[in-house]
Amino acid sequence: MAVRKAVIPAAGLGTRFLPATKSQPKEMLPVVDRPGIQYVVEEAVRAGLDDILVITSRGKATLEDHFDRSLALEHHLEKMGKTELLQEVRNIAEMADFHYVRQKEPLGFGHAVLIAKAHVGDEPFVVMVGDEIVPDPRGDEPPLVDRMTEIYEKQDASVIAVQEVAAADIPSYGVIDPEETSDGFLKLRGMVEKPAVEDAPSNLASRGRYLFTPAIFDAIERTSEGVGGEIQLTDAIRLLAEEEGVYAYVHEGPILDVGKKLDYLKATVELALRRDDLSEPFREWLLQRAETLSDEHSLRS
Ligand code: UTP
Repeated sequence: MAVRKAVIPAAGLGTRFLPATKSQPKEMLPVVDRPGIQYVVEEAVRAGLDDILVITSRGKATLEDHFDRSLALEHHLEKMGKTELLQEVRNIAEMADFHYVRQKEPLGFGHAVLIAKAHVGDEPFVVMVGDEIVPDPRGDEPPLVDRMTEIYEKQDASVIAVQEVAAADIPSYGVIDPEETSDGFLKLRGMVEKPAVEDAPSNLASRGRYLFTPAIFDAIERTSEGVGGEIQLTDAIRLLAEEEGVYAYVHEGPILDVGKKLDYLKATVELALRRDDLSEPFREWLLQRAETLSDEHSLRS
């Protein structure tokens, strides 16, 4: 069955980005000139997913407003003759069919995905974490979700995106136990949430994109509260791997986590450097700044 729905969980509290997230959603923090979640929506649309369900929560109304028409603003831009901006602002609302449902309590990522059940129904769908940005690969490499869809179509099973992570970062992620199939695919034998380095079955951690068959909902429903008292998606993926099979795709390009302060700064630099209108002056400034930084560093040491 064709994959056409995306689910974007964006109901978390964003405690790692306080105080900025005290009264505004972390998914709405600007990265260069647009809220982080807009990159995620644009990625979904490029992958042909034009039915987008966002899982929101109290205090996230600005997120819905962003993907809605703003008639007063459009009228103003029209009057000022700013046609390009007008088109850009209008497109945001017309990119896809947007739907919203609230998660009433922050019971975890797995619980947020389960809330999508009624909307998704009996179809495969892609979960795209609202605070992780996946820039399109340079050159003619297909984007991550396209790659995952190819594997889903061949195997008729769920596919999760994984990346190699450094040992020090292993305890922050869900880590897979992979085996290579005879036809060269990576299949999950199991998966562990936030393991200690010595217990980790590999250095491949799951990262923000998951293509699920609808069987994931039943697996989440049979999952009890796990690490941190939250319903962990990892536990449900492990069940699904045992019962239906789950594949992994190793993504080589960057996945930018904009929910953490240091990674947010890196994401801003990375995405600004990819922008035609900003990259040149920004690169020049960065190089100069790096020079003064290295002078300061040698003075100190
Ligand atoms: P995070 O692990 O980043 O959690 O969730 P968080 O609560 O947003 O952030 P911190 O740890 O307090 O800083 C990954 C994704 O899952 C969503 C988040 O919005 C984020 O996009 N999420 C998380 C939910 O939708 N509901 C939840 O209960 C938890």
